[in-house]
Amino acid sequence: MASHRTAPWFQGVLLGGFCLVCSAVLAVAYRFSAPDIERRLKEDMEVSLGQVVPAKYRGNDMVADTVSIDGAEGPTTVYRARKDGQVTAVAYRVVGKGYGGDIVIVMGVDRSGEILGVRVVQHSETPGLGDKVDVRKTRWVDAFKGLSLANTAAAKWAVKKDGGRFDQFSGATITPRAVVKAVKDGLALFSSHRARMLDEAKDALPGPAPAPSSTSGKKTVS
Ligand SMILES: Cc1cc2nc3c(=O)[nH]c(=O)nc-3n(C[C@H](O)[C@H](O)[C@H](O)COP(=O)(O)O)c2cc1C
Repeated sequence: MASHRTAPWFQGVLLGGFCLVCSAVLAVAYRFSAPDIERRLKEDMEVSLGQVVPAKYRGNDMVADTVSIDGAEGPTTVYRARKDGQVTAVAYRVVGKGYGGDIVIVMGVDRSGEILGVRVVQHSETPGLGDKVDVRKTRWVDAFKGLSLANTAAAKWAVKKDGGRFDQFSGATITPRAVVKAVKDGLALFSSHRARMLDEAKDALPGPAPAPSSTSGKKTVS
């Protein structure tokens, strides 16, 4: 006579019970580790923000001062640096399509739309080829510092091979092209949402920033 242990209903109950216990263990583990994970993510973001927005711009906790901007690629969290209540700089993530997949970049921009810093924080580019965009390998990303859409002509936002101002890497043009495009798009995002990013949009309708004035004293690289 077959024991109930081999009966399908018993196997089903056993499997169900096992799944229930596993789910409960995972839920408890998540409950205990969630604050730790959140703290570490905050610390990581603080490190990234510190690398793209110099200390002299920051008198606040940037991680706690954010606004969500709806860009072409979906919502983007913008972190604000303030001094005496006024936003002095912002930082946000942009994503480029590299050779190995997404290249996640954090960029810092001052009130005038000039880049303060760029860091690649996540990528899957090939070691020795595309990974030169990582500051731990080379200082290539420093080439963005001080550039803006106002002081650098549109055609110059490209690698040298394509007529632009940025070095490509030998045998690896896809990666730097992707980063240059992502950073340029990031500046366009700033330009389109400047008032909201700078917390000056209370009475203003969202819209593009005024065109750079020819009397602003900023030079255009051509
Ligand atoms: C195994 C392998 C890995 C590669 N990794 C990269 C990379 O990480 N980044 C990159 O730009 N190109 C990489 N390349 C080279 C690209 O396929 C491409 O040839 C190069 O970027 C030059 O592009 P261009 O012809 O548009 O100038 C890799 C090629 C191979 C065969």
